[in-house]
Amino acid sequence: MTKKLKEKWTTINGAALDPWMYGTAWKEAQTQALTEMAIQHGFRAIDTANQRKHYHEVGVGEALQELYATSEITRGDLFLQTKFTYQRGQDHRLPYDPSASYALQVEHSFSSSQEHLHASMIDSYVLHGPSTEQGLGDADWEVWESMESLVDRGDVRFLGVSNINSTQLKLLIDRASITPSFVQNRCYATTSWDKEIRDLCDQHSIIYQGFSLWTANRLIKDHPFFRALCDQYKKTAPQIIFRFAIQSGFIPLTGTSSSRHMTEDLETLHFELTADELNRIERLLSRQEQRR
Ligand SMILES: NC(=O)c1ccc[n+]([C@@H]2O[C@H](COP(=O)([O-])OP(=O)(O)OC[C@H]3O[C@@H](n4cnc5c(N)ncnc54)[C@H](OP(=O)(O)O)[C@@H]3O)[C@@H](O)[C@H]2O)c1
Repeated sequence: MTKKLKEKWTTINGAALDPWMYGTAWKEAQTQALTEMAIQHGFRAIDTANQRKHYHEVGVGEALQELYATSEITRGDLFLQTKFTYQRGQDHRLPYDPSASYALQVEHSFSSSQEHLHASMIDSYVLHGPSTEQGLGDADWEVWESMESLVDRGDVRFLGVSNINSTQLKLLIDRASITPSFVQNRCYATTSWDKEIRDLCDQHSIIYQGFSLWTANRLIKDHPFFRALCDQYKKTAPQIIFRFAIQSGFIPLTGTSSSRHMTEDLETLHFELTADELNRIERLLSRQEQRR
């Protein structure tokens, strides 16, 4: 890794983490090429899932193999994150036998992820979403305990949870032996960018990962204050949003398929918004602000 790249890494919660994450959903046959391109551009944290319906985890693994063979990139330079997904989030291409216990489903899904990614150790293993919309069910506790055992035996460094509400997150924090290190949620400006969950994350040293930061919030680009910021910093609307995320202490995900956008996304590491601007962006499309 070059010195320049090294400086980009940051330490959060005692772990060296990249402030950016490249997401590999919906890339299908392009997964290998785009994952390679993203890493060549400088992304070091890669998000995938053993959910063939939306991800092609095998393609991510092929990209890694190719890069290990042809570049200076090593496994140690990368942060690999994948997920366990319940049957209801999958299609017929399941990575486990659905009649097996949830504990075994986790074991089978995880070992198939290890094979797909050619990695004995996964940096972050994420529950893709709880089994129920209200609270947490028995299935979730069985799955979480099975995920904890992956940490206990050294196959996983951190656990995460996705698509979770604040009640569910509080339950998990209160009852789990190993609390999540990551929450990965869709992040809407209308909820002050998932502020309630982000605050909970801050209180418990959990790192928030936000997805759909641009796609779920495109309206923001028409706000006069936001337009002025784009003009002032000579940045695009996604760049301002992504920079806001990084400075607010959370990790943005991008799933861009464009080389130019990969460059632009990483350029967000090289400018700074003021504290006032961050506060204003946080409230810009919130319901409270709109009522004024
Ligand atoms: N846990 C979950 O349930 C869940 C759900 C959804 C997503 N995710 C994860 O999050 C990742 C990202 O998903 P996402 O929904 O945020 O993004 P996405 O659907 O992959 O799309 C990002 C969009 O933003 C555009 N974009 C990115 N950078 C841009 C830039 N600098 N300028 C203009 N447009 C830009 C891309 O267009 P171009 O391609 O043209 O650049 C694309 O249309 C996924 O790949 C996946 O890993 C997780």
